[in-house]
Order: sequence, then C-alpha cells, then structure tokens
Amino acid sequence: MKHVIEELERRRSEARLGGGQPRIDAQHKRGKLTARERIELLLDENSFEELDMYVEHRSTDFGMEKTKIPGDGVVTGWGTINGRVVYVFAKDFTVFGGSLSETHAKKITKIQDMALQNRAPIIGLFDAGGARIQEGVAALGGYGDVFLRNTLASGVIPQISVIMGPCAGGDVYSPAMTDFIFMVRDTSYMFVTGPEVVKTVTNETVTSEELGGARVHTSRSSVADRAYDNDVEALLQMRRLMDFLPAHNTAGVPVLSTRDSADRLDMSLDTLIPDNPNKPYDIKELITKVVDEGDFFEIQEAFAKNIVIGFARMEGRTVGMVANQPMVLAGVLDSDASRKAARFVRFCDCFEIPIITFVDVPGFLPGTAQEYGGLIKHGAKLLFAYAEATVPKITLITRKAYGGAYDVMSSKHIRGDVNYAWPTAEIAVMGAKGAVEILYRSELGDPVKIQARIDEYQKRFANPFVAAERGYIDEVIQPHGTRRRICRALNMLRGKKLENPWKKHDNIPL
Ligand code: HXC
Repeated sequence: MKHVIEELERRRSEARLGGGQPRIDAQHKRGKLTARERIELLLDENSFEELDMYVEHRSTDFGMEKTKIPGDGVVTGWGTINGRVVYVFAKDFTVFGGSLSETHAKKITKIQDMALQNRAPIIGLFDAGGARIQEGVAALGGYGDVFLRNTLASGVIPQISVIMGPCAGGDVYSPAMTDFIFMVRDTSYMFVTGPEVVKTVTNETVTSEELGGARVHTSRSSVADRAYDNDVEALLQMRRLMDFLPAHNTAGVPVLSTRDSADRLDMSLDTLIPDNPNKPYDIKELITKVVDEGDFFEIQEAFAKNIVIGFARMEGRTVGMVANQPMVLAGVLDSDASRKAARFVRFCDCFEIPIITFVDVPGFLPGTAQEYGGLIKHGAKLLFAYAEATVPKITLITRKAYGGAYDVMSSKHIRGDVNYAWPTAEIAVMGAKGAVEILYRSELGDPVKIQARIDEYQKRFANPFVAAERGYIDEVIQPHGTRRRICRALNMLRGKKLENPWKKHDNIPL
C-alpha cells in the first residue's frame, strides 16, 4: 500500500513540474506565472480539483514518442471563486509551448462539456503557440472540437478568456468566440499569423507588440475588453468580474450584501449638467454616484470612449450600464460605439441582467468615413440589440436625445420599461440651430430673425415635456433622486416576463 501511495505522489510531483524547472524559471523571468500558479490565484484557496493530470499525447511523428510530459500542456479542472463553482483550463507554456495536441484538446473539451452540462462559467487562461505542429490535422481537429463547444455554450454559460502570453493561430479563435477577452500588458499578444508570416506575405515589418499587443487590441481592434499590468492584477480582477456574473442563463444575477441604501439621495447630481448645453460633463460621475458603493466594472474602457459600458450593482444585484459619454465626441454614436454597446446589451440579455441606459446623445456621427465604414449596419446592431432584449430596461435621458439616436438608446418605442428624463432633457429631431437652418433657409441672411427662430424652437422642443405629454417619457425626475427611482423601478420589474415570437434565431445585422 505504502508503495502505491508513494508512486501516486511521485507521478503527481512529476506532472506538477510541467516542462521542468528550467522552463518554469524562464517563464518567471519573462514576468509570467506558471499555469498552476495562475489557477491558484484565480480560485479560492485549496478549492482547485485538477482533472487529467496524467494525460499524455499519442503522437509518434518527429520523435515525439520520446518526449511525453504528463498533462500535455494544459492544466484543467474546477474550483470556486468566492464560493461559486467555475471550470478552468490554463495553457502550460512550459510544455511544448502550450501548443494544442489531440489529447490536449480532449482535456479542454471535457471541461467545456462539464461546464455546460453543470451550468457554470468557464475561464480559459491562454499562453500558447497554437496547433502542435508535429500533430498536423489531429491538432486542427482538436481546435474544431473546442470551437464547436464555444459556440454551443454561448449564451448559456459565461465564457471568459484571459490572454497571458503569446496566443497564435488556433488559440485566438477560441477566445474570440467567448464573451470577454482580457489581456496582460507587455507579456501577451494575439494574432492569427505572426510577424514573420506578415513580413513574407505583405512585406510589412511589425513587432509582436505592434501587431497584437494589449494596446492594439484594447484601443484599436476592440478584440480585447480590457488589459492589466501583470498576471496577479488580471487574475484578481477576474475574481471581481465573476462576482457580477450569473452562473448561467437562467440562474438570475448574484446578490451581494450592500450597505448602500436604495434611498440614498445625491444632491450634487442637481448641478451635474452644465448651464451651457454644449459643455461636456463626465457620465462616469453619474454612474458611480448612482450605483452601489460606486463600484463599476468597466468593459472596453479604452475603445470607443464616446460610449461607456460595464457592470455595477443596484441593491446588491448586478445591472448592465450603458451610457453616452459627453466628454468624448460629445457622446455621439458612431460605428465603433454602436458595435461596442450592442454586444454588451446582447450579453446582458442572454444572462438576464437588467440594463440601465443613461442618454446624452447628439445623434449619429455624420461623414464619409462613417458612412463608408457601414454606420448604417453598425448603428442597426445597437438598435436591434435593444429592441430584441427582453430583460428589464430602464432609461434616463439626462440631456440630449436627438434624432435616430433617441430611438436607439432604449427608448419607449423599442420596449424600454421605465423611461425617465431629468428636467434638463432635450428630446428632438435635432438641435435648435440645425433645425432652424433647414426650416428657415430663406431667412439665413437675417441673424436677428434666425436667433428668434432658434429661441422659438428651443422653447418648444428643448425640454422633456413634449415627449412626456405623449407618454414616451414616464416621469421627469429630480436628478438627486435618481438612485432611489432606479432601485424602485428595478424592484417593480423583478417579475418581468416577456417573450419574443418563436424563431430558430434572429438575423442581427452582422
Ligand atoms: C509545437 C511549439 C509550438 C507549436 C512553440 N512550441 N509553438 N511546439 N507546436 N505550435 C515549442 C517550441 O518548439 C519550444 O520548445 C517551446 O514551445 C517554446 O517556444 P519558443 O519558440 O522557444 O518560445 P518563444 O520564443 O517565446 O516564442 C513563442 C511563440 C513561438 C511565439 C509561440 O514558439 C511560435 O511562433 N510558435 C509557433 C506559432 C505557430 O505558428 N503556431 C501554429 C499556428 S497554426 P522547446 O523544446 O525548445 O522549449 C494554428 C492552426 C489552427 O494554430 C487554426 C485553427 C483555426
């Protein structure tokens, strides 16, 4: 008996060493943790239950039969984050560069199947060189099996990817099909083909960082949702994120205790909107003053900053926040902002997370760059996402709600449940000056007449009451009572049941 127990411990120790001490040291030298160190930080202490640690590849090509390493480049299992079950796989770069073999893929698909069957989130930690080159099509097949499961699990359980090292080839497409991608600055990068291939095919010279580093993917391509300075920060933030997310699509949002009273008034909100309608203010100030304890987990903060999205809580329950940002491009909707918010609205709707929308939008961004870039289709994504969403939707217009953007931003017409406006709201087809220039073109030579027309238009439309008279706005509220109003509305909507007509799936303008 003693002998077999010792043998078990020997095999475990061997597996835990992955690709060996020199490769672990190299990993540390690059500022990266190992797969098992990462899992330990991500999960609650001693909660990790590892599976398949003795799995080895079965390849015999290129002398591979002589190099078998238990675990085969990925550590898989399950554990808890603040007591809630999550499934995890972490690529082990010390073993064949974390590359994916047939058996490595089987370890991942086993965990994906378990997560889906048992309805709990799955987190993948990536640090890998793509398909195991020695295995050829067997590795490609393995990726296909992973991709299929990503697709089937989409909208059923949250899927999160954290990129913590190189990520090439097949290792970028699985993250791309998950709900959120996070990166670590300076040590991680993602690309379909690396700098050498780029040089050969297009003759461009780029570094890995320039091609697919965290800065590129969080601020330009929008492939990644956020970046962190190091492994530790990224993993701790993932723990924070998981506290906002439901376990699956019918679980309901998690409820955390809070000391922030639903009745808390904030008098400073009464002066948030500047007297000059063209002066900006920071919409994040409104968000953090309204939500529980000012705790806001922003998504894609470095991309399309003219719209702000992220998770927060009201009375301890998760909500999704969407808000135009007057500080950037006056909060206008452009293609990037529309795509960014549309995907977030759809995530919230998949997982029954109520959506709170703060509106201050002067319209869609005009210009050839936007039109040639497909603004019509991209804007329609956001319109479509809001219109199809059946979760509780609460809308507050703080200032401008002009033109088509008024309709898009969770208006009554596309099933906003409770639509509030502050007294400073201006709901109209366009701003007074633009309207007058079109309606009274013949009078443009007379500045006095034109100013009178502007004043007249302003008086008639630059307020929330024309919309309120039609019931498009349910109530005009005092800014200082915003939190209390929203908390009460969310409670009233707790039992909301709304179903769209049966369909195989919709055809959102992609
Ligand atoms: C087998 C691999 C490997 C791979 C790395 N290694 N990638 N082994 N298959 N794909 C091994 C290396 O041989 C090395 O082994 C160890 O991992 C560490 O790699 P290094 O190159 O020394 O590390 P580094 O300099 O940090 O470079 C990391 C890297 C580079 C950028 C990931 O290794 C690289 O470019 N790899 C190939 C990437 C790639 O083209 N993959 C195939 C993509 S095609 P030793 O024994 O020396 O430590 C693909 C198709 C799927 O994925 C498509 C599905 C849609």
